[in-house]
Amino acid sequence: MSSLAERLMHNPLFSQVYEHAWRPIFTRGFSLGGTQTQDYDRALRAYLSRPGDRRVLDIACGPGNYANDAARGLTGDGAYVGLDFSAAMLTRAARDNTGDRITFVRGDAHALPFSSQSFDTVTCLAALYLIPDPLAALDEMTRVLAPGGELIVFTSVRASIAAVPGARAAAGLTGLRIFDRTELLDRLIAQDMEQVEQTITGVGQYVHARRPRKG
Ligand SMILES: C[S@@+](CC[C@H](N)C(=O)[O-])C[C@H]1O[C@@H](n2cnc3c(N)ncnc32)[C@H](O)[C@@H]1O
Repeated sequence: MSSLAERLMHNPLFSQVYEHAWRPIFTRGFSLGGTQTQDYDRALRAYLSRPGDRRVLDIACGPGNYANDAARGLTGDGAYVGLDFSAAMLTRAARDNTGDRITFVRGDAHALPFSSQSFDTVTCLAALYLIPDPLAALDEMTRVLAPGGELIVFTSVRASIAAVPGARAAAGLTGLRIFDRTELLDRLIAQDMEQVEQTITGVGQYVHARRPRKG
């Protein structure tokens, strides 16, 4: 049976409240009431909106709440593609983000419908903990990255609070996975990614990595 979180993502009503209610509350939850995650999120949005001719793939884009930021600075042939498997989320995304360089595609993060090495920036924000086989999805993300391209992931990480029985139970009930501290980093290094960096904010982690330019 699918998890509570998975069922919510396919629910049209949830997709309507997600961006303005659930996401801000959830993001705050990730920093355990502090401002770390919000600060990092603001910095990430500014980074994503820098000028450049980039092909950007946002995996599990939800209602497209990074689409406008990621598309704003694009130049030349630059394009933003948001991918999600929820029709409800994509309906919302396409309605709210209508720029010329923005496209949404329905697909599964486990089997991306794109050629290898076809994107300069790949993001997967607040979603990897929902994906049933997250390490296989991470491999797919690195597969579609062009040489020199960057991967940015925001997801959960095991912190002391996650060792509390209630936190574990909540994660179990909702179907959210909590990653071990080096789990994603180890996988990315095994995939020969470079400049693998992790920033931990409460029980959330931001991971940044690059595909080598050669090899
Ligand atoms: C919590 S939302 C995150 C949305 C957005 N990235 C954000 O940062 O707000 C998680 C999204 O992951 C999507 N999702 C979950 N599993 C997926 C999969 N296997 N393939 C594609 N999308 C998936 C859900 O439909 C949902 O829109």
